[in-house]
Parts: sequence; C-alpha cells; structure tokens
Amino acid sequence: MAPKITLDHISMKFGDFYAVHDISLDVEEGEYVTILGPSGCGKTTLIKVISGIWHPTEGRVLIDGEDVTDVPLEDRDMGYVFQNIALFPNLTNLANVEYGPRVRAWPPEEQRATAEKYLKLVAMLDRAGMFPGELSGGEQQKVAIARALASGSKILMLDEPLSALDARVRMELRYEIRRIVKELGITVLHVTHDQEEAMSVSDRIVLMRAGRVHDTGAPLDIYRNPQSIFAAYFIGETNLLEGYVSGWTKNGRTKVRLRGGHTVRAEKSAFATGDAVVISVRPENVYTADDGLKAKVVSVVFMGTFWRVRTVAETGDYLEYNVSGNHAAPRPGDQVMLVFNKRMTKVFARPAEGLEGAISLE
Ligand SMILES: Nc1ncnc2c1ncn2[C@@H]1O[C@H](COP(=O)(O)OP(=O)(O)OP(=O)(O)O)[C@@H](O)[C@H]1O
Ligand SMILES: [Mg+2]
Repeated sequence: MAPKITLDHISMKFGDFYAVHDISLDVEEGEYVTILGPSGCGKTTLIKVISGIWHPTEGRVLIDGEDVTDVPLEDRDMGYVFQNIALFPNLTNLANVEYGPRVRAWPPEEQRATAEKYLKLVAMLDRAGMFPGELSGGEQQKVAIARALASGSKILMLDEPLSALDARVRMELRYEIRRIVKELGITVLHVTHDQEEAMSVSDRIVLMRAGRVHDTGAPLDIYRNPQSIFAAYFIGETNLLEGYVSGWTKNGRTKVRLRGGHTVRAEKSAFATGDAVVISVRPENVYTADDGLKAKVVSVVFMGTFWRVRTVAETGDYLEYNVSGNHAAPRPGDQVMLVFNKRMTKVFARPAEGLEGAISLE
C-alpha cells in the first residue's frame, strides 16, 4: 500500500517572509497530486519541507499518520527529482539509477535490470556509461527521472521534472510517468507551473499563490468550476468582464449588465440584483451569432486545432474566442457579435482589491 502524506499547518519563514503559509493538505494513498502556481509562490519550498531538506518553521509532516517532521531526508524513503538536478557527478548515469536498488540491497542482476529498464524508458540507455557532466540539462533531467522511478520508494517528489525537455518528449514522458506510478501504486507530489501538464497528469491539482493553497480539485472540477477569479485565470484561459447583476431569467440564470449596457446571461448564482460582479467565460465558450455583444477583431492567431481570435468588445474589454482550425477565420477589423454559453459563464463577486489585484501573481 502506498503511503499517505499529511501536511498539518505547515509554514516556512525566511526571516520575516512566509514562503509557505499555513498549508494543510492530505495526499491520499497512491494519489497523483500536482502543485501548480506562479513562480515564487512557494512550491519548491513546500517540496523541500516534505522531503526533509528543510525543517518547517511551524507545523508537522506526517506519513501514514506518523510524525516525520524531525526525520532527515535520507530516512524518509522518498524518490525525488529536484528542480536543480542533483545527480551524483562522480557516478555514471547507470550507477546513478542503480543507486536506490543498491541501497536496498536488491540482488545485483535485479539492480542492473531495473536501472536499465528505466534508462531505456527515458531513452538514455545508450548513455548509461557516461557521466552526468557529459549530458545536456534535459538529458540529466531524464536520468534523474529514471533514478527516482527506480528508487523503489513508494513516495515520489517531482519538482519541475520535465521543464528542460522538448515539448514532444515532455508530453510523452509525463504520460509514461503517470502510467508507471499508477502501475506501481506510488503516491506522487509533482510541482509544475505548466497548467496543461497539471491538467493532464493529476488526480488532483493544488493551486498555490503567495505561499498559500488557493484552490484544490480534480482537473475537470477546477477547470469547469473554479472557486475564485485567480483559479479561473491561472488554470486555462479565460475572459474576465466586470458588470452588475441586473436580474434573472425564468430558468434562474443570472443576468449581468456589462459596461456599456449590454446584458449577458450567466450561470445560476446566489447574488442579488445590483451586486457588483465579475464574469469569467473561457474562449471556447464564446461564439459568434447574429446578435450579441458587439466586438471588433484585433488579431487572429493560428493555434493548429483552432484560431484564437482577439477582439475589443463594446465594453472596452479584450475578449477572445476560438474558431475551429478547419474553418475560415475572421480578419482584423471585422465586426462580430458574440454570445456566451451561459451555463459555462461563471459569476464571481467583484473583489475588493480590484480585478487586477485578484489576478496578480503575487
Ligand atoms: N533559502 C531561501 N532564503 C530566502 N528566501 C527563499 C529561500 N528559498 C526560497 N525563498 C523565497 O521563497 C519564495 C518561494 O520560493 P520557491 O522556490 O518555493 O518558489 P517556487 O514556487 O518553487 O518558484 P519557481 O516556480 O520559480 O520554482 C520566493 O520568494 C523565494 O525568494
Ligand atoms: Mg521552484
């Protein structure tokens, strides 16, 4: 059975500055959790506290209910890939990957076979006899992944393990890592600032901002039902428009009057008429129609499967929508009328710190 990790009110201070502020979190047995958040929000600090590199200023780390806060790194039995890769420079790549199995005193043939299996997986078997210093950054990252997977640990800590790899390799490896850890029943904490990576590999995403957990949920939930403007903005892409609740449709949907007077329909909500709100609608939920919010196309970018059309709406806001890549796209200067998928148009309270403050990365 894979271990469960519990963070109990963890804080980490550097001087007066809280890099991690009062985080409590359970990572269940065999769960694959990604920690997502902007640069500097405390992801690496949190991983270092969990793996035992740093002792938290406050709070406890528990593994299967046992307090390990004072247990040093080498006794926590975790496989890890740190952000600044730390392969043993004086060992060959093969010996690096064999390290875990050797410490566990597996039979020698099994040590070798395991190391070779994972080096092959990351397409580095042909470099087995070379030293880490003879590899590029991305190649070292692959060896570090192989070493972590081969370690035999039931907990894996991955801090930006794929950041130095090409897009295609990154995509292949992330699915491979997920497949293997699920097969082996390993509990994983994977740090990334790549929201697409987080969406595609996680059982659950923990969104961090400025040292705190901001939102948490399964990828689909957090994407479809973000609990805050920041979550809607940071995970995926979205259009944010300010307005006031102006009434209700007979089906109970919220009517929102936007700047300039145009009214749109949004999801059901518990707001009251007159409340200042922000609506969030993703580009894939905005369509052109014969009537709607007037907008003028300012740019069109081909993204492969779709065109991303950027417009300036009559509200004065930029508003983006998608057109299938198989269809003809509008041109800059064209006038369009836009309507929203109302069920997918979220309504949030207008934040006291202003919209800019709500989406700022700090
Ligand atoms: N050893 C340290 N001493 C002082 N401040 C630190 C130290 N390590 C990290 N910090 C600060 O703590 C904050 C969080 O850093 P951390 O490395 O955890 O961010 P991160 O979320 O991993 O960012 P990135 O995505 O850029 O890797 C930053 O403001 C950083 O400057
Ligand atoms: Mg980091």
